[in-house]
Amino acid sequence: MTIHPSILAADFANLERELHRIAAADLVHVDVMDAHFVPNLTLGLPVVQRLAEVSPIPLDAHLMIEDPDRWAPDYAAAGASSVTFHVEAAKDPVATARAIRARGARAGLALKPGTPAEPWLERLDEFDLILVMTVEPGFGGQQFMPEVMPKLRQVADAAAAHGRDLRIQVDGGISTTTIGTAAAHGANTFVAGSSVFRSDDPARAIRALRKAAAHGH
Ligand code: DX5
Ligand code: ZN
Repeated sequence: MTIHPSILAADFANLERELHRIAAADLVHVDVMDAHFVPNLTLGLPVVQRLAEVSPIPLDAHLMIEDPDRWAPDYAAAGASSVTFHVEAAKDPVATARAIRARGARAGLALKPGTPAEPWLERLDEFDLILVMTVEPGFGGQQFMPEVMPKLRQVADAAAAHGRDLRIQVDGGISTTTIGTAAAHGANTFVAGSSVFRSDDPARAIRALRKAAAHGH
């Protein structure tokens, strides 16, 4: 079970300092938005590269961009240990996942709340991580959507049936009140933006999330 604070909720004028505030987490989740795939705009390759150089913990890049087939492998080369792209934006998700793996990173496939998992359940071997979005991507601080729990369960069951140790990630509205529900439906990696960075004591917030997730399991 891993906790990934999202720097979308961090102080963008002090990212290196913010990374050290969450050093007790497992990975740092970096939301890359291009103002096309989602309406919001955040940061890109040069920033990810510098974050990877200074971060005390590995980077989990979440690409909310168009044409991930072209760009995702570059995020692996920039030093992200895990690179997740959206299936809705990709032309050839399997080829893109293979290109990410070839550059030494874990390959993740993200599904928006309305995107079905079925077509991918037989191809789970091509991915290291499946991200089941629990909000519409684009903004932090939104409400967790319990209606995606059946899909989460479906992915977790398929991974278990294939004997795969898959990372099953949830992202959006994760707090101590929602993380247990996601854990109970099979999630094992948890992204949390506001609930970690908006806390006075992020290390304590991370511990509280771990404890609440363990209760859900
Ligand atoms: C939303 C992003 C999330 C976001 C989560 O599009 O993918 O990673 O930062 O933020 P919270 O935890 O505040 O919902
Ligand atoms: Zn994200």
